[in-house]
Amino acid sequence: MRPRFFHASGRMAQPGGELLPFDNARRDDMIKPHGSDTLNPLYVADDAAREQLMQEAHELPSITVSSAAAANAVMLGAGYFNPLTGFMNKADALSVGENLRTTDGLFWPVPVLNVVDDIEPIKGVARIALRDPNVDGNPVIAVQDVEGIDEFSEDELNTLVEQIFSTSDAEHPGVATFKSLGRHVVYGPIQVLNFSYFEKDFPDTFRTAGSIRDEFAERGWEKVVAFQTRNPMHRAHEELCKMAMDATGADGILVHMLLGKLKPGDIPANVRDAAIRKMVDVYFPPNTVMITGYGFDMLYAGPREAVLHAVFRQNAGCSYLIVGRDHAGVGDFYGPFDAQTIFEERVPDDALDIEIFAADHTAFSKKLGKVVMMRDVPDHTKEDFVLLSGTKVREMLGNGVAPPEEFSRPEVAEILMEYYQSK
Ligand code: ADX
Repeated sequence: MRPRFFHASGRMAQPGGELLPFDNARRDDMIKPHGSDTLNPLYVADDAAREQLMQEAHELPSITVSSAAAANAVMLGAGYFNPLTGFMNKADALSVGENLRTTDGLFWPVPVLNVVDDIEPIKGVARIALRDPNVDGNPVIAVQDVEGIDEFSEDELNTLVEQIFSTSDAEHPGVATFKSLGRHVVYGPIQVLNFSYFEKDFPDTFRTAGSIRDEFAERGWEKVVAFQTRNPMHRAHEELCKMAMDATGADGILVHMLLGKLKPGDIPANVRDAAIRKMVDVYFPPNTVMITGYGFDMLYAGPREAVLHAVFRQNAGCSYLIVGRDHAGVGDFYGPFDAQTIFEERVPDDALDIEIFAADHTAFSKKLGKVVMMRDVPDHTKEDFVLLSGTKVREMLGNGVAPPEEFSRPEVAEILMEYYQSK
């Protein structure tokens, strides 16, 4: 089914913009994972089997992979990248770049690759250990069957970068990272041995897709709205979650934050986590929000990353994903709503079951004394909103000045001020 678009009023906006009555009938079972009936995480959950695999891994030729590949292994291990069984080959990557489908026809928006620069140590080897670049001592994170090694030509790599990021500008942090990795892809199935640094560094927040599904079942939540974030949550984000929950009639909100690598200047996950926890504690009704995170490096790929976000929230059992203004964007590389239009233009009807809550720019209205979506208040001008640029907010926090309460909850501002002043 085509991801549908929900309007904050509780009516459904079709991609054309027309509003239809909101169908609230789909309350049967939890949403199915992407591409299979059950979730098949690649983490080896059985202790004895994992121990044995670790023993074997120590005998295998090994490579220390890129942070991006390690994050892919974590996502595969945690079930978020269901139904993939490992790293893609070149043909699949090119097909995903071009058509958002693997060569087998599986809908998938961003190639999942183990890109390696130096393949000398693993040439002609059938099975290898993948070492984690992000943990001291580079422990083994996964074992991979090497089905083969492909090489991208310069042209193929450039085309792929353009398709994923909609730009090849080296100023784009995702493009710069991707292009630095190399040209060889080592493809084949993997078995995952651990979740890198995420479990240790974020014991209360890092979650697998399966454990989120389990908790939904325990809580009796059938319909859940996912909120993707790499930033602390201000008033606009808080209200966006509340609006989405009301409009969709969901049982709860999954705040699902990125815990992996960010570009310089972004707020670290532990600070963001503390600020979000405080905000939820004080400003949400009890038992309506789960605060969770996933172990992936930010791609800043805007529209394509938004679709990937939808895929892995479906795997985590969510029925809706909020996609607002400049979702997963960076700088001025994407139009403010490109990450919504991609669902209309590139996501076919049968591709996903999860639906998109497409949010307009949201801000506090001085006229109405509350946070609103701009499209709901056509009589407003820019001056009627409390609008602050990211740069301005960072400057205020760095100077120990709390942004206005209409913009940031004071408890959130306090945590962020402490962080900026300790830098
Ligand atoms: S993201 O890279 O994780 O998307 P961020 O944490 O800033 O960045 O945004 C989280 C979600 O909130 C995204 O869906 C984004 O589009 C949405 N969002 C952020 N700010 C606004 C806003 N003022 N109005 C509408 N949507 C917003």
